[in-house]
Amino acid sequence: MQLSSASIDRRISVRSYSGEGLSPAQTQAIVQAIEECGPPPLGPRPRFRLVAASDAGLGDAPGQAVKVGTYGMIKGAPAFILGAVEVLPFANEAFGYCLEGIVLRAAELGLGTCWLGGGLRRGQVGEILSLGPNEIVPCITPIGAPADKRSLLDRIVRSSAKGDSRRPARELFFEGEPGHPLELGPGSPWTPVLEAVRKAPSASNKQPWRIVKSGSSATPVFHLLLDEDKVYNSVMGEVKIQNVDMGIAMRHFEAEARNQGLPGSWRRLPSTPLAESAPISYIATWAP
Ligand SMILES: Cc1cc2nc3c(=O)[nH]c(=O)nc-3n(C[C@H](O)[C@H](O)[C@H](O)COP(=O)(O)O)c2cc1C
Repeated sequence: MQLSSASIDRRISVRSYSGEGLSPAQTQAIVQAIEECGPPPLGPRPRFRLVAASDAGLGDAPGQAVKVGTYGMIKGAPAFILGAVEVLPFANEAFGYCLEGIVLRAAELGLGTCWLGGGLRRGQVGEILSLGPNEIVPCITPIGAPADKRSLLDRIVRSSAKGDSRRPARELFFEGEPGHPLELGPGSPWTPVLEAVRKAPSASNKQPWRIVKSGSSATPVFHLLLDEDKVYNSVMGEVKIQNVDMGIAMRHFEAEARNQGLPGSWRRLPSTPLAESAPISYIATWAP
């Protein structure tokens, strides 16, 4: 699935919607994105469904606040993308990677979305999806045309999560080992790739992604690490929200690498390439 740099720049979390339904063309494009969003580089393929807010019983008529769990923060969404994934290794990463593909396609179409992971009524979503015994619902997203004006709650949530701010690159991207800031030369094609990761959404905007470059400058490899907030990441059982963040980062990296014409793909090396020291752990490696 080809995703433009503009979609990465344009995407923000949208919590206030105009209430207007998706057009048939938009619906078709999202259904197609759902089909094309996988397979993920690691873990099982998740499944997704686009449902109208009213059909799903998730809300009232478009334009009204939807009052179920976290949806209370979301105003006027005409539809939601619901998803589930089987509990297998890297299920959360797989879910993050695949749903972010759909989220970026939505941004290209001018549609707003917002990753929702905290406090959802997972039982209700599970019923709509006929959840299997070994499946989980890591997150969902509303989808629709953004409202002209953000609701007051939207503005409060956005400013408390500092939604517009990101850590500086020197705290995220390293050379050789964590802690040694990466200096890419001027004009390096990898700079926009790492910037695309920096722009990614993350739960509570915690930005737990760390990337360590190694290898030669002609054929660099990049190791993706998770700087985990253990307590935060263990409150939802099998749903590991910061591992979802890792999958989202993999999607942003890959999309921008493709846009820059850079070779490579994500894989898990058989042995951990870097000395791990808690709370930092190895997730995957981008290599040619
Ligand atoms: C896995 C994940 C879970 C999230 N859960 C919620 C949530 O439950 N409620 C919410 O309002 N925002 C949620 N967000 C949105 C983040 O707060 C948002 O991405 C972050 O603050 C950065 O802002 P931006 O997306 O506008 O760039 C979540 C984001 C991610 C990636």
